[in-house]
Amino acid sequence: MSDPSSPSTGTSAPDPVEVLVLGGGRMGAALLVGLLAGGLGSDRVVVVERDGARRAELGAAHPGVRVVAEPVAARDVLVCTKPGDVTTALHDAADAGLARVLSIAAGVPTASIEAVVGAVPVVRAMPNTPALLGAGITAIAPGRHATDADLDDAEAVLRSVGQVVRVDEAHLDAVTAVSGSGPAYVYLLAEHLRAAAGALGLSVGLADTLVRQTVLGAARMMSETGEDPADLRAAVTSPGGTTAAAIAEFEREGFGALVEQAVVAAARRAAELGGGASPESDGGDAPRGR
Ligand SMILES: NC(=O)c1ccc[n+]([C@@H]2O[C@H](COP(=O)([O-])OP(=O)(O)OC[C@H]3O[C@@H](n4cnc5c(N)ncnc54)[C@H](OP(=O)(O)O)[C@@H]3O)[C@@H](O)[C@H]2O)c1
Repeated sequence: MSDPSSPSTGTSAPDPVEVLVLGGGRMGAALLVGLLAGGLGSDRVVVVERDGARRAELGAAHPGVRVVAEPVAARDVLVCTKPGDVTTALHDAADAGLARVLSIAAGVPTASIEAVVGAVPVVRAMPNTPALLGAGITAIAPGRHATDADLDDAEAVLRSVGQVVRVDEAHLDAVTAVSGSGPAYVYLLAEHLRAAAGALGLSVGLADTLVRQTVLGAARMMSETGEDPADLRAAVTSPGGTTAAAIAEFEREGFGALVEQAVVAAARRAAELGGGASPESDGGDAPRGR
């Protein structure tokens, strides 16, 4: 969220830093890497991380970036703490001074953020874990005071970790259920495919290699050909053939309805968590432990 014309703070106070990353965990670090790779000078970003060991780790990994325990005045604050820590962390950042907020905390509504920081532009985002590899998809939604320019700036930040789409905040629970939790559904399919390969007599190592590369290859086919998944599936499903035999089983057991039911359950849970942001809420597919 950068704009080359830094606001003046008078002669006594130092200029605020451009970007304050609040929470240097997995997602905060991924965004930091993206921002630096995108050309933001290391002297223009500060990371606030309360865990001392993590501060040392981040400082060593990113020479030139200040990693501190308490917030400093900043123009843009990127909220990357767990949802349950957002209010406290933002109170402290607002006390230090801030002009805009971009939050990736799952299930924390813009209204809750505005209640802490006041009438400043807030953009809420829902990324997913492939962002850690720069292959994420993030949906962004504006709060009451965010303009199109604020969304443009938020999008520029988040593009550093993958694709970005814009939605109304009312759709973020559905987005969470599809792309936030979605990687876990693919992993679940991979787990079962690997187990099925084992049941057919393949070794664990071979089954694992076959499944990983199959998922990667299928994902690349969807992404790089741009073809509809239904067409890609039809292209490998000869009538009376092996794939057709498998798909008939999936359909007989109601695979499509089951997927729909699962995604509806995830969206319902996202809405429940949004009503009172849980400390555990993570956007669905966050890895446990660092
Ligand atoms: N991972 C995902 O796929 C994903 C997807 C969508 C959204 N999100 C959202 O991204 C956010 C971050 O997730 P994550 O996986 O990166 O979590 P994480 O690894 O636990 O990182 C959060 C970091 O913030 C630190 N922290 C907490 N309160 C603080 C404060 N007041 N000041 C400074 N630092 C503070 C934590 O320190 P401690 O370790 O001491 O608590 C921790 O290092 C979450 O809100 C999650 O909902 C994640």
